Amino acid sequence: MQIKKSATKKKPAAAKDAPGWDEKSVLRVARRCTQALKPYVPGKSIEEVRAKYQPAIITKLGSNENPLGTSAKVLSALEAALPNVSLYPDGASRNLRQALADANGIKPGQVMVGNGSDEVLVMIAAAFLNPGETVLVSENTFSEYEFSGRVLDGKIVKIPLRGMRYDLKGFAKKLTRKTKLVFLCNPNNPTGSYFTHRELEAFLCAASRDTLVVVDEAYGEYADAPDFPRSVELLGKYPNLLISRTFSKIFGMAGLRLGYAFGDPFLIRETARVKTPFNVNLLVQTAGVAALADNDFRARSLANNHEGREFLARELAKRGLENIPTQANFICFRTERPAVDLCEDLLQRGMIIRALRSFGLEYWNRVTIGTPEQNRRFLQALDAVLSASG
Ligand SMILES: Cc1ncc(COP(=O)(O)O)c(C=O)c1O
Repeated sequence: MQIKKSATKKKPAAAKDAPGWDEKSVLRVARRCTQALKPYVPGKSIEEVRAKYQPAIITKLGSNENPLGTSAKVLSALEAALPNVSLYPDGASRNLRQALADANGIKPGQVMVGNGSDEVLVMIAAAFLNPGETVLVSENTFSEYEFSGRVLDGKIVKIPLRGMRYDLKGFAKKLTRKTKLVFLCNPNNPTGSYFTHRELEAFLCAASRDTLVVVDEAYGEYADAPDFPRSVELLGKYPNLLISRTFSKIFGMAGLRLGYAFGDPFLIRETARVKTPFNVNLLVQTAGVAALADNDFRARSLANNHEGREFLARELAKRGLENIPTQANFICFRTERPAVDLCEDLLQRGMIIRALRSFGLEYWNRVTIGTPEQNRRFLQALDAVLSASG
């Protein structure tokens, strides 16, 4: 009988650390800068709360989603596009970028899109930030600016809020030749406060052209203050300005994941180098175009928000709860008790809002402005919890 050669072959030597990894050995191969990354802390989901407390009704006002849901036109567009999902999408998202350009009076070459603005922010850092260069971010703000900087091995410099607002003068004082990126959130998540057109322009004047200034306007569509920045107008004047926005809020498409940024065509072209080939899927591209065409849904969302904003601010004040004037679709208020305790009690009653400990604000809570009924339900639950603990 002939023995097959392959059967007698020696097995390759096992890898040194076989059979598996442990915490220490995996750190030897992991990138060092990623060790400092903190996992994103999301708001509580309906499923989590149902599993923990089984409340009769659950109201989710913890993640700044659109309480009116999604535009019916977006849903129809998604349905119509479903038979095409065997095909790759347009990697350059041409129709969507054209629609965004048309809606904002700019050129498609000034528009980039991503899988949520989370991805857009990381792409900007990946395209421009060299290891060790400085990234300026605020304290008490959206965590993904710091994430984007750290993931590219940048040096994070934090500027405190001043009177619960972004301190752009404080930012300007920290600018150096090593500052490559500045992330500004307007209105700020989680405070809802904003900086003005004049403040933004003064900061842009102070920054060199080689410092890229990213203004994240995830909630910008809700702002109605007359001095809120008309940021798109500034694009022509300041070639280092990038404006990031999202379809997750006023367009009601958080689950679909679509974000975008505007900027100088050369900056946008550089950012495209780090893009994965099909980062915005076929359904989402179609949905984005349909959403932009539905002015009625946007107007209703805005009207609901403005009404709810006034109502909640008034009602919180009536209860003696300090709250910050907001330009966004949420409102931030202070309580005597640590917010995590208050929010846990609310969860038991099926009311999801957000404790701001992960934002560094131990006694502050953030509630999304809901429909009139959701807002009333929130106040009822809040009253019950405050009187039980008071
Ligand atoms: C200020 C800010 N920017 C960006 C995002 C992320 O948005 P997206 O869903 O587009 O990733 C959020 C999400 O809540 C946010 O609050």
